[in-house]
This record gives sequence, C-alpha cells and structure tokens, in this order.
Amino acid sequence: MMNENDKHTTGALNDADIVVFGGLGDLAIRKLYPALYHRLQAGQVNTNSKVYAISRAEKSATEFTDLLKEKLSVSLSGEKPEDVQKLIDMCTYVRADLSQDDALADLKPYLREGKEIVRVFYFSTSSSLFGSITKNLSAQNLINEQSRVVLEKPLGNDSASSKAINDEISGYFKESQIFRIDHYLGKETVQNLMVLRFANDLYENAWNSQNIENVQITVSESLGVETRANYYDKYGALLDMVQNHLLQLLCLVAMEPPSVLGADNVRDEKLKVLKSLRVFDEKMIQKQTAKGQYAKGSIKGEAVSGYLEELDDASSNTETFVAIRANIDNWRWAGVPFYLRTGKRMSKRHSEIVINYKNVPHNIFPEKKPIDNNKLVISLQPEERIELVQNVKVPGPGGYRYKPTSLVLDYSSSFNDRFPEAYERLIMDVIRGNQTLFMRKDEVEASWDWVDSITKLWKETGMKNKSYEAGTDGPGDDVLLKGHEWNE
Ligand code: BG6
Repeated sequence: MMNENDKHTTGALNDADIVVFGGLGDLAIRKLYPALYHRLQAGQVNTNSKVYAISRAEKSATEFTDLLKEKLSVSLSGEKPEDVQKLIDMCTYVRADLSQDDALADLKPYLREGKEIVRVFYFSTSSSLFGSITKNLSAQNLINEQSRVVLEKPLGNDSASSKAINDEISGYFKESQIFRIDHYLGKETVQNLMVLRFANDLYENAWNSQNIENVQITVSESLGVETRANYYDKYGALLDMVQNHLLQLLCLVAMEPPSVLGADNVRDEKLKVLKSLRVFDEKMIQKQTAKGQYAKGSIKGEAVSGYLEELDDASSNTETFVAIRANIDNWRWAGVPFYLRTGKRMSKRHSEIVINYKNVPHNIFPEKKPIDNNKLVISLQPEERIELVQNVKVPGPGGYRYKPTSLVLDYSSSFNDRFPEAYERLIMDVIRGNQTLFMRKDEVEASWDWVDSITKLWKETGMKNKSYEAGTDGPGDDVLLKGHEWNE
C-alpha cells in the first residue's frame, strides 16, 4: 500500500542493477532486501531492476532462492508470499572469492549497459575488504558513470585507517558517487529534527546557549552483542555507536541552518560542528568520559550473561557503555554541555534527544517552590514522539500551585501510515543520487579525529571499564556536571 510519504517522492521509476557484497549477510537479509521489497511495493523501483547477491559460499541458484525465501519469511512476515516472491525473482546469487584476480568475472555478463540504468555497488562487508572489492570491480571494467558505491560503517577503526580506505576508493569513484551510510540519518524522526528546527521559528529562536542549559543524547539498547561478538570486541561502544550515530545526531542538533537543503550545504554545516568539538586532554578525559562493560544480570525478568562470558575471553577491556560530556566551542553553544550516552544490555531500548532549557530568571510565586526547567524530549525509538514539558497551574483554589506537564505529539498516531525503515529512504536516495543523508569524506575524517583523541587518552591513562549489571542503565558516571541528571 502506498503511503503519504511515498506519494511525494514517486517520480520516474528507477531502474537499477544492485550488487550487494556480503549478500548473504545479516544486514542484507534483515535490512536491505526488506527495504527494497517495500520500495518495490510502493512502486518506486522499476520491476526490471536486478539484485545480485555476492558471497564466497558455494550455493546453487536453488539453494540461494530457498535460503532467501526462508529468511525473508521472517524479515517480511506479515507480507503476502506472492509479493515477496516478486523480489526473490529479481535476485541472483553470484559466488565470488575476492582473493582471486578474476573474482568478479562471473558478475560482468549480468550487468546491463545504458545511461538510464543505475549501478549500485553495496559494500556490506568488513571495511578491510573495500579496497580489494573496488580493485576487482575496476579489473572487470564494471565501474561506469552511472555507478554508485555504498560504504557501510565502520569505515576503518581510526582516523588513519579510515583515510586509507577513503583514498583507496577515491582512486576509482568520484566523491559524488560515494555514499557513506549512517542508517540513523535515514530514520524518520532523525530527519524530523531538521523540520522541527528549521520550520519552527519558535524553537530555533531559543536554540542557543542563552536559553539552553544542556543537551542529552542517549541511545540505549537492551540487546547484547548477540552473534557479533567478534566484530564488536574490536570496536566497542565508542567506535560502533559514538563515532557515527551519536555524532551525527549531535551535528543535526547543533548545526547552523544551511541556506538550502542541498547535500553539500547540509554537510558543510555538520562539518563545522565536528570541527568545533573540543579535543580532550588528560585531565578532561577522566572527568568527561566514562566507560563500562556489562556483567551478568537480567532483562525483563530473564537472566542474561555478561559480556566476557559471551565473548569467551575474560581479558577483554572493550567497552559496551560509554558516556561523554562534549563541548562545542562556537558562538551558539559556548558553555552548553552535550551529554552523549550509549550502551548495550541496558534496562530498555530507547533513544532520545533531550533539550534542557534554562530556568526562569526569577520566581515570582509566593510559595517559592522550585520551578522545573522546560525540556523538549525528542524520542527516536521505540516510540517516535516529541514532548514539550512546561509548567502549568494546578486547577482549583489554594494559590498558585504549578507542576510540569507534557504536551505530547505522538508521531506515529498523528501519521497513520506505516513508518518506512531507515534503509528504505537511504537505498532510494542512492538510486536517485541524493547524497544529503550520507557522510562526506571530510565529515568522517573530522569525527574520527575527535574520537581518536579519546581512544588515545583512554590507552595512555589506562582508563578501565566500570562493570554494570545487565539490565541497568550503565555503571553510573561522573561525566554529568553537578546539578544535571540524565532524563529517565
Ligand atoms: C549499528 C551498530 O550501527 O546500530 C549496532 O553496529 C547497533 O551495534 C545498531 O545495535 C543500532 O541501530 P538501531 O537502528 O537498532 O538503533
């Protein structure tokens, strides 16, 4: 069924050859193919489009189709099997061993030529393979003007490795063909941040250090590392979540309004924020960052193991929780702390941005009961909600009694249609060639530079993880300035 959102974006149908490296992987099965299915259903993708799943596994065409059918019956449960079959019919499996020089020779005959056919190479593998995939594509002359490459995060594991990967890819693709994905930017509620700020003068007028006391960005998950322990242990919460998702959220909250919504206009503004982040030194690192690792505990009454047991390596010092007090040294945000917090195996899955306003300058009410600060709570998940907390008079006699009360906009019940998943919007943007919601090279480099300053100091100062019980909200941290509390 076509929803309101689709009606505005349906233009000419887009015909694409989409090549997915890591085509049997978790991301492809759980996110990419379902996203394509929904856009196909919405009539945005031409039914002549093709999907090529690339992987090293030995699989016949039938084995692949059976596997896809089985997996999609889970990711797309509730959809009509005959509709899902239409997507499956568009998919072809191509085996490729990337260590071989002619690894992609079998792919070549499939790809169509033609100016109107977009070619998407989706790299959903470890970023250590990005260079060799690109070389293999080039060896077969598969990169043409209509090609776009999508790079999944994390792009490297520090500034130097990320730069090396970017340089390698830039040898073959122009910057306008490179789509560095951060799926948080595809979330409806994250995009709504732009509208909330730049289409409502009411908020934007008070969006500064004169009116705002602090900003809190929390992304907490109740899940642990699941089947990804090997990957996760090399990265940890700082690189897995802060370097990309949380910093992107911070950029959208803190950036100046671009003059138009062009890709480079938006990305120029985000870059300025990243470059204004105060770099940590030895003193600050102890006071302004905290890290933790979950120990066994229970979530919703169910016992769960600790990180080290899941990993089977009792010596790992990888953090599964991180909290940071960041400062943005520019005119608008001088003196306003930005608190960032993320962790696995916390009490619940919830992501929110909280704008805590300053208190009134003077209390005129006779009881002098403390007046609560106003706050704007932007919930990203699981509920998409905007809540403005303000003080109102409690009705009835008895003088001016007041209490904080919420004005709530429940995004999903106000807009009855189905909420498209982040990857749906992003995959369509790739096909259409719109880079606004993708990270530019200099943005990625600037965020790595800031994050590197933290990892380096953590190492140098030997900062240890504090343990927290799974199912709690982290180890408790001292990053909050006195007088501030996390929104709960
Ligand atoms: C991914 C991280 O980028 O984002 C995962 O690698 C994390 O560790 C996930 O679980 C969270 O995404 P979402 O959309 O579920 O909040």
